[in-house]
Amino acid sequence: MIAALVGSGEKINENNESSNSTLHAWRLLIAGLVGVIIIGGLILIAMAVSGSTGTNGESSEGARVNVLASSDNECVICHERTTPGIVEQYGHSSMAAAEVICQDCHEVEAGYPEAVEHEGTYVLNQPTTACCSSQA
Ligand code: HEC
Ligand code: HEC
Repeated sequence: MIAALVGSGEKINENNESSNSTLHAWRLLIAGLVGVIIIGGLILIAMAVSGSTGTNGESSEGARVNVLASSDNECVICHERTTPGIVEQYGHSSMAAAEVICQDCHEVEAGYPEAVEHEGTYVLNQPTTACCSSQA
């Protein structure tokens, strides 16, 4: 009998404790969710910031000017008409921006292997890195 009372008393205690701990668990869960939402928000903000600088970088890349557009280089002036694609493509390159000109790659001495006479000079159709060192 006493044992039963004590037993039921323990049960009541247990119940109280378990409802307390359920409440505690809910609080933890809610605090956790709020934390996750805040951290998620911060990550989204960080992504938006880095994303916007990324697009800025891309758009300035896309808007990169043709540095040969107003060039007075004789190769450029004539080749804008004869091979506009090559001039257009090269004009937007970082090498053109670094002021590497057509002649730097194409123009060679008369006796150079594969050289073809062209507009008062000699050029290579397909220059290789070999002529970089010979023209330095
Ligand atoms: C007066 C116009 C003119 C000038 C100046 C000129 N070119 Fe050309 N070039 C042409 C024409 C036209 C072609 C033939 C294009 C084609 O049909 O492929 C050509 C072809 C070329 C070729 C290919 C050669 C071949 O036999 O297929 C190269 C390389 C070249 N030019 C480089 C140059 C370089 C470098 C300069 C500056 C030193 C230059 N050109 C100056 C008009 C010119
Ligand atoms: C950084 C070196 C470099 C510069 C600068 C350069 N070219 Fe070229 N060019 C080449 C190479 C390499 C090839 C061969 C590409 C291939 O075989 O696909 C070539 C190919 C060509 C051809 C085609 C030749 C053929 O056989 O059909 C022409 C025309 C030409 N270039 C003109 C020019 C003109 C005009 C300029 C200046 C606006 C210029 N290139 C600047 C390296 C260069």
